[in-house]
Amino acid sequence: MIHMKKFYLAETFEDAKQILKSCSYQPISMAGSYKILGERLGVDFGPTIQLFELLPVFLDGQRHAEIRKKMAICLANSRSKQEQAAQVAINSLPNLAATTTPINLMTDFIRPLWRAVSRESTGYEEANLILMDDIPRLFDSRLRVKDRLEINERLRIFIKNESDNIEEKLILLGQNVLGSGPFIGTLTLSLHKIFSQNIGKQLKDITYPTSFPRSSLEVTDLVNKNESSDSVEPNIVRCVIHSKKYSESEKQLAMFGLGEHVCLGRPLSNNIWTLLTQKLATMPQIVHSSELGLKHSPVEAEFNFLEIVDPFLRPDHLYVQFTQAS
Ligand code: HEM
Repeated sequence: MIHMKKFYLAETFEDAKQILKSCSYQPISMAGSYKILGERLGVDFGPTIQLFELLPVFLDGQRHAEIRKKMAICLANSRSKQEQAAQVAINSLPNLAATTTPINLMTDFIRPLWRAVSRESTGYEEANLILMDDIPRLFDSRLRVKDRLEINERLRIFIKNESDNIEEKLILLGQNVLGSGPFIGTLTLSLHKIFSQNIGKQLKDITYPTSFPRSSLEVTDLVNKNESSDSVEPNIVRCVIHSKKYSESEKQLAMFGLGEHVCLGRPLSNNIWTLLTQKLATMPQIVHSSELGLKHSPVEAEFNFLEIVDPFLRPDHLYVQFTQAS
């Protein structure tokens, strides 16, 4: 008999909260998905599996608690250095905004800001920082096998070169891998939202919210721990974390997660947001236009046979044009 997966979309705040806090569901095992893919294709995804077995977002129970604690210590140790690096990058913003041609804030400011933050916490050379940026592509259901294998091979080289204390180094890599997608996407979407609502205003006269007004992490997929073909329960639940249908307070509550997997990067992200909005609040430039490009919407995405779905609403670019105040 073919076992058909039962899929359920938890799209109200109360429903999503209840499921995210329930002990009956656990994250989809990304390492498990890559084991299946490797067996089907007869290829070795060992390095990818080794990393994904250390990412708390895909773990459950005792193992999750153990790795989460190690990652939390690692993040706490690097936070002040990361914030200093963020401040230096933010200090370059007035220069960038001094031009009157449109600036791609995503490529010219937000990505370099994140790169500076992750360089500071890892001390990695450029090739490993680029690898760190590419690893989240492995979460995308539409990535070609050829590209998955290419990233897997670069990860193999990383593991070979960093073989001393490899678990520690993969945890450090993993924290940045989990941070880059939501940080870059959320900051891009948030700045676009603020700028597009304040066209014609000087940056210093805008009222900035105390945290990100939009998130790029839209969904979390969970599987039923008691999965069986004759169960009436759904096997897979997609919990909506960020939705236009949620009230502002629900959005803020859900933005960094609701259950045991609540985001470890929240203090760093919120502190960088504060540093950035403090700087914007000193700048005289007028917002002339803000144009956002979007790649992919996860709520509409289909599961593939691997049950991998990119959970991010991924912005592609953010062109902002400023005019100089006279
Ligand atoms: C504004 C940017 C960010 C947003 C909106 C965000 C959002 C989230 C959400 C919703 C979760 C829970 C996912 C789930 O329940 O499956 C999560 C988990 C996580 N985030 Fe973030 N995040 C952000 C930035 C960061 C940064 C910068 C880092 C690291 C430097 C980070 C590290 C993590 C980690 C390690 C987890 C997994 C925690 C666990 O599973 O126990 N995040 N994030």
